[in-house]
Amino acid sequence: MQPQLSDKVVIVTGASSGIGRAAATLFAAEGARLVLAGRREGPLADLARSLDPTGARVVEVAGDVTREDVAARLVAVAVERFGGLDAAFNNVGDTGMAAPIPDLSLADWRAVVEANLTSAFLAAKTQIPALLARGGGALLFTGTFVGHTVGFPGLTAYGAAKAGVLGLMRGLAAEYGAQGIRVNALLPGGTDTPMFAAGLPEPAAESRAFIENLHGLKRIAAPEEMARAALFLLSDAASFVTGATLLADGGLSVTRA
Ligand SMILES: NC(=O)c1ccc[n+]([C@@H]2O[C@H](COP(=O)([O-])OP(=O)(O)OC[C@H]3O[C@@H](n4cnc5c(N)ncnc54)[C@H](OP(=O)(O)O)[C@@H]3O)[C@@H](O)[C@H]2O)c1
Repeated sequence: MQPQLSDKVVIVTGASSGIGRAAATLFAAEGARLVLAGRREGPLADLARSLDPTGARVVEVAGDVTREDVAARLVAVAVERFGGLDAAFNNVGDTGMAAPIPDLSLADWRAVVEANLTSAFLAAKTQIPALLARGGGALLFTGTFVGHTVGFPGLTAYGAAKAGVLGLMRGLAAEYGAQGIRVNALLPGGTDTPMFAAGLPEPAAESRAFIENLHGLKRIAAPEEMARAALFLLSDAASFVTGATLLADGGLSVTRA
């Protein structure tokens, strides 16, 4: 079978861990040239070298994607190293502090909005001109079921920020469809990543079992399952898919546990 991202230049944010790491691994296997982003240099560089020891096809840029200069640097590196940009998986997110809204400080709220929504805005702002220069491309943002199909106590700010990402995605899809840019969102269900594990209330084993049971499939996803959904949305297999939210939530939204 033909590789699905043959020589495409793709930015993956949040690539050092979880869903982003699995996506970077799959995209590399599918022939993509990659710019990987995350704040911690060590795990990012380890992944980049394990995917491509020569550094000819995979480069890493360590930095905080809520900063405009970092978002711009990812695109500049794609253009300088690989000649342009074809696609981006803007996957960074953070649940922030889990607490009822009255207990959140304004700083807590702003941190969640920055990590989830401002990072998505800066990604779009910096990536779209490069995609237009290429004659089109594909953007993918990571949302969540939280606040979309299911309200989750304690994660209201996170759900609100991710809902903003969906509004951004739909607007961009409408604005840039005529110029060949597809824009979609992947909405994972519970996925077995460091973020998921860190967010489990104690006792963690019981919390995990409770959350698994919320899903129709009675389990949470492996990050590789999200990577495959992301690959579909960024590849030509989804050539007529834009403005869409792909709910890859193992049936959580249609299940009453
Ligand atoms: N896991 C789930 O159950 C689940 C469910 C629904 C949606 N999601 C969404 O899926 C996405 C990926 O989550 P995950 O579970 O894979 O989490 P994860 O394992 O914690 O990975 C998050 C990645 O994002 C990077 N990152 C975080 N903030 C950043 C920033 N400001 N600038 C640059 N990099 C940053 C982290 O690297 P550094 O720490 O080195 O920066 C890491 O590589 C998120 O958008 C999350 O909201 C996850």
